Amino acid sequence: MDNITILGIESSCDDTSAAVIRNGELLSNVIANQDVHIAYGGVVPELASRAHQLNIVPTIHQAIKNASVSLSEIHAIAYTRGPGLMGSLLVGTSFAKGLALSLGVPLIDVNHLKAHVMVHFIHDNTPNFKPPTFPFLCLLVSGGNSQIVLVKSYSEMEIIGQTIDDAAGEAFDKCAKILGGPYPGGPFVDVMAQQGDAYAFNLNKPRIGGYQYSFSGLKTSFLYLVRDEMKKNPAFIEQRKTDLCASFQRTVVEILMEKLLKASQDYHISTIALAGGVSANSALRKAVENYAHIYNWTTFVPKLAFTTDNAAMVAITGMYKFKAGEYSDISLTPFAKTLV
Ligand code: KG4
Repeated sequence: MDNITILGIESSCDDTSAAVIRNGELLSNVIANQDVHIAYGGVVPELASRAHQLNIVPTIHQAIKNASVSLSEIHAIAYTRGPGLMGSLLVGTSFAKGLALSLGVPLIDVNHLKAHVMVHFIHDNTPNFKPPTFPFLCLLVSGGNSQIVLVKSYSEMEIIGQTIDDAAGEAFDKCAKILGGPYPGGPFVDVMAQQGDAYAFNLNKPRIGGYQYSFSGLKTSFLYLVRDEMKKNPAFIEQRKTDLCASFQRTVVEILMEKLLKASQDYHISTIALAGGVSANSALRKAVENYAHIYNWTTFVPKLAFTTDNAAMVAITGMYKFKAGEYSDISLTPFAKTLV
């Protein structure tokens, strides 16, 4: 079939997104963010699903328009089935089902985490675009997950390590919260850290085997450090905010990179990719590039636009599933927690 054209729909958390991909080339990627959560310092699930309901029609309309395609040219509808917030997933799932039925085209369910990995296969006018070759390792770090994924093919992905408690993104968010920063906290910590001394404070690193991660001990040691110092000097946060952020960020990056290096050496794989919201972190991106020089890695660091939730990653995953004839039944229900 020529010109395989896929509409992707993403609604797993607080961003409503729609994208059109044709033969792997990105034609449009529209994201409607939800400001309604800012006042609450975190995503409020019920508000998120209501905002998705408001946003979904205009977002899809805009994506189709920006792509300069008509609905009759769409070969399949790919949508995020999970993991994510159940109410939010239901909005995207229901809309995708309705649209697929009305257009008479296949419906394709997409795993949100696998989709993050698949950003590296989106052609988006990057000169000399070259996707990773299989097998490769992907460090998938987001607000809800920290995983090392062994990517064997477009569809075969094995999680070889993951966090046993908090995700890296959650740790960044908590750090910012302790310091009185905004939500989400990662971008705030990243900006502050750029003006600070990364070795000003020593924070706890987990002693945990294999490729597993743990961030709850680091979070607690950071909280206790700030609490104890504030007792002695109430201006401590204000005076040392940048050093605190830089030290926290360095520790998270070291924890992430140590396990990634171990996996790369044990599996003899030197093609390494990053994905997920935390892959926007400047220190992590730099660390991966440094390791590339030292260990002769071939690295794939996503464009910032593809680090956060977006439908382009859903559409590209859908395209490979479409090619493999992996369609979904209309009766499929969303899932909130990771199934694979
Ligand atoms: O992948 P994502 O958009 O949402 C999930 O599906 O979880 O990731 C959001 C997470 C948040 O925890 C946010 O603080 C973090 O990614 N994040 C960052 C940066 N930008 C976003 N963490 C560190 N540094 C950043 N620059």
